[in-house]
Amino acid sequence: MRADYLGGMDATQTTVPTDARPSIVSRNFRAATGAVTERHWVRQDPYASAFFNALSAVFPHGETFMIRSLVPWVGRVPDALRPDVQAFIEQEADHSREHVAMNRALTDMGYDIEPLDRKIRAFVSFFAGASDTVKLTATMCIEHFTAIIAAELLKNRHHLEGVDDDMLELWLWHAVEEVEHKGVAYDVWDHATNGWNPLRRYAWRSFFMLAVTTSFFINRTLGQIELLRQDGHAFLWSLKQIMRAGFGRGGIGRNVLAPWAAFFRPNYHPWDKDDRLLLAQGEADLATIAARRAGYATTPSIVATALQAAA
Ligand SMILES: [Fe+2]
Ligand SMILES: [Fe+2]
Repeated sequence: MRADYLGGMDATQTTVPTDARPSIVSRNFRAATGAVTERHWVRQDPYASAFFNALSAVFPHGETFMIRSLVPWVGRVPDALRPDVQAFIEQEADHSREHVAMNRALTDMGYDIEPLDRKIRAFVSFFAGASDTVKLTATMCIEHFTAIIAAELLKNRHHLEGVDDDMLELWLWHAVEEVEHKGVAYDVWDHATNGWNPLRRYAWRSFFMLAVTTSFFINRTLGQIELLRQDGHAFLWSLKQIMRAGFGRGGIGRNVLAPWAAFFRPNYHPWDKDDRLLLAQGEADLATIAARRAGYATTPSIVATALQAAA
């Protein structure tokens, strides 16, 4: 059962119990210096690389917005939730720091990420005068996005296949922490709007999700097109390739459609989907990378293989 501070719940809900969810810890991970060795670091594929590079370009300002949206609630949430909010803030601050470093490397390789940065700054400015609840709702919706994309990266490894260990480690680490804290913004929002009529809550979060989805889809697509333009690719060709890669068989966009839609269920909670095994596998893979770097392992992790077999 969800904790009392989350209010009532449907007895048929399968949400992972609060006390069984993974604890949220800042790993304070630092990416290897020189982790980005080339512009197209994902299998030398300009389109796959553009997807990740476009995300990285907006993470620092995007994650800072989410931190600022959660900060006003630290003192307002129940004691039981406060450590999770603090850990969320620490994790996002770490992500922002490491993606600043990655973005600097992309800039050093000749990319101008300023046009992408402008878009995310415009998004943040849009909420400048908004209430704490509005900013929290937007953050809660963005967190759904980041969590389902992160879970997809952990689940289907072909997305990051052929990526060298330093970059794989950065993206797996970020994905693990996004999944780990996927319920925090929702729990804070749940608390913040607990006194609202259920219909208003549902309409409010559904409206924000549709708005955030539209903004995310348009701006991240334009971001990829801009990076590909800098690689010498034409607008329409890039758009076609991005749609094919994203929504063709096995594409990230296609695979996250169902988890995205789950948000619109009336009793939705991020932990309706039990990702604990996925997290354990991600942790095992991070350990394997560390062991491989230290010269102790060159074969796939026994733990990860066992977990995969059990899944
Ligand atoms: Fe993050
Ligand atoms: Fe997050």
